[in-house]
Amino acid sequence: MSTTLSALEVVPSGAALGADIVNLDIGAATDADIAAVRTAWRDHLVLRFRGHSFGDTAHLEFAKRFGPLDISPNTRFSGQPWMPDYPEMSRISNIKIDGEATGSLGDGELVWHTDMSYLDEPPTGSLLHALEVPPSGGDTKFLSMYDALETLPADLRKAIEGRQIKHDQTHNSSGTLRKGLEGVEINDVTKIPGAVHPIIRTHPETGRKALYLGRRARSYLVGLPVDESEELLDALWDHATGNPAIQWVQEWQADDLIMWDNRCVMHCRDSFDPGGRRLMHRTVILGDRPY
Ligand SMILES: [Fe+2]
Repeated sequence: MSTTLSALEVVPSGAALGADIVNLDIGAATDADIAAVRTAWRDHLVLRFRGHSFGDTAHLEFAKRFGPLDISPNTRFSGQPWMPDYPEMSRISNIKIDGEATGSLGDGELVWHTDMSYLDEPPTGSLLHALEVPPSGGDTKFLSMYDALETLPADLRKAIEGRQIKHDQTHNSSGTLRKGLEGVEINDVTKIPGAVHPIIRTHPETGRKALYLGRRARSYLVGLPVDESEELLDALWDHATGNPAIQWVQEWQADDLIMWDNRCVMHCRDSFDPGGRRLMHRTVILGDRPY
């Protein structure tokens, strides 16, 4: 006779990062479950919770157990929340009603990035819950920035040791100017507004060092001539994103919840058929200044 007690299981993806958390209903997680999830998150960087259906309130309450949540960046930039009843939640969707977008980021490719690195205190992590997924496309790839740093050729590492990188705050990950910033395109990377952080950061929980690139476009290695900064950044990005051995691919199913660590992971999204509907709800855990 089976018992009603359950114990979650951590099943690593077999790739450089990523693990499934099996046998956990996030709405019924005990403190011991949360502690186990935290440990798995540190070890595997990206976690997937699959096989349970749950709503926005359960998502929000679960996310809050890992730290205070940010308000949706859409709210911050435009003053208009996607979900007025849940100001901490962003709606990521290509679905339009009467020609009006019902969420952000559309159906195009999203380039490799770390969420909101342009803030002085970027998020610790993000959670993304799939409500509707298109028949094909729209996969999300994740990349271990610990591994990107640890496999960096010695000359490149030496060139960036102790350097700071400026993160453009004016464009989103689909490459468009943020709401409220239309008409303020600046082309000189030394003058674009955004936070400055160490390009090699230390994870505050694991103590491991990770490469911290943010986004490629309009980033700048502070203090270098622009052409030198561009050349170095190109080399770093080629290295970091060109190696499938340090990546893991999430092929979405409805009800999947993915939780990733923004301090040591980058992600990107494939485009998908605009005729397919994709709807995700996202929450973001507030973080501290990188060091
Ligand atoms: Fe993102």
